[in-house]
Amino acid sequence: MLRFEYHNLLHNPSLPTAIPAAKVKDWHLACQQAHEEIVADRKADILGFYSLPEQDISHITDFVARLDPIFDTMVVLGIGGSALGNKALYSALRTERELPRKLFVYDNVDPVYLHEILAQIDLDRTIFNVITKSGTTAETMAGYMILADLIKTKYPRDYKKRLIITTDREKGFLRQVISQEGYTSFVVPDNVGGRFSVLTDVGLVSSAFTGMDIGALLRGAASMRERCGEQDIFANPAYLNGLLHFLYIREGRNISVMMPYSNSLYDLADWYRQLWAESLGKRHDLKGREVLVGQTPVKALGTTDQHSQVQLYTEGPHDKVFTFLSVESFAHDFVIPDLHPDRQEVSYLGGRKLSELLNAERLATEIALTKSGRPNANIAFPVIDEFHLGEFIMMYEIQTVFAGKLLHINPLDQPGVEAGKIATYALMGKAGFDKERAEIRQYLEKKRS
Ligand code: PA5
Repeated sequence: MLRFEYHNLLHNPSLPTAIPAAKVKDWHLACQQAHEEIVADRKADILGFYSLPEQDISHITDFVARLDPIFDTMVVLGIGGSALGNKALYSALRTERELPRKLFVYDNVDPVYLHEILAQIDLDRTIFNVITKSGTTAETMAGYMILADLIKTKYPRDYKKRLIITTDREKGFLRQVISQEGYTSFVVPDNVGGRFSVLTDVGLVSSAFTGMDIGALLRGAASMRERCGEQDIFANPAYLNGLLHFLYIREGRNISVMMPYSNSLYDLADWYRQLWAESLGKRHDLKGREVLVGQTPVKALGTTDQHSQVQLYTEGPHDKVFTFLSVESFAHDFVIPDLHPDRQEVSYLGGRKLSELLNAERLATEIALTKSGRPNANIAFPVIDEFHLGEFIMMYEIQTVFAGKLLHINPLDQPGVEAGKIATYALMGKAGFDKERAEIRQYLEKKRS
């Protein structure tokens, strides 16, 4: 079970400036209200991610079992919620588990990046997975057109088995492509938003392909969902962390730093960054009033960023809340040899494990931050495996929605992202965007003048 160590988010003798536990209790009614709104949303089938642990995954496991054994690599083409979860899970487990198949995620339109991926894969052994809920996102469509063309040209007889598509059940241009071409397809459920979709076909197909136990991911998510049903907020990690982050936002701590002490978990912090930023960063509240809320998520890596960021974190402005991710037992470890027993500069390291040093440095950073009055929490992974990753995902999805309720905003929409998508369509000449094109022309003229 993940351990949520929240002691240093609350007032304690080492951190007298932190939020007192009594204040958490003062917010009891608001939390109750937020909880009831979540219950109502679930009844209205708005928060589909809650029910994902019960889904039937046999279509995924059957697909992987039946797949031509020639395929040892998958390239996901997707962006945002259609990419970051896949990346996070793969990065977390590829070395822990020695996963038998490889995954690449092409989530940008950088041509050099595409070149780099193509240079690393063996096309004969690669299957492409185009993931887009809307079926229209320019970045994903561009990648799809390049790569579908490539495989159609190179494998005119069997290109169909080399590309799968994950999109809306009925809507969108890609559904037409699927029926015309006969590609295998998967579904992004209607009631699950992009950044909440890692435990749907969006993240599960690539995870099962690479060799992960996706059932264990869902069991972890189910177990965390149960914990987050607790009425006592101190026993409910998602509600407690959501409330505390909300209270710190009110105190001007507008930055949330997530700092895994594990390279394997670094991309999980990236997944969190999107979830927290896109869900809570909102101009308007539910009543349409301008509120300009949000908390900027930042990722940092321990110990690497101790030599880059921690000076700022301990002595800079009081505008941050910190979350460490720690790992208790690593899949691989090294004992540092006692190479210079008579040199006090390094002899203390001799005979100690690298993991010991890593975890000691995490604790040292926690102590340094606490001493300088910076609220911090730790989420301890006993090991990095599917179960604990599933727990983490469910905790943060619930926490995000809960914090959104406390902020009285809609955590499920992303009007700011849509605005960028529309401007891109206009700039690239898509039909139906003449008005936006004219506005952009005006903007450019003003800029030049
Ligand atoms: O969370 C979201 O909804 C977004 O980040 C989307 O995932 C992202 O914009 C990609 O959209 P789509 O899956 O429609 O291509």
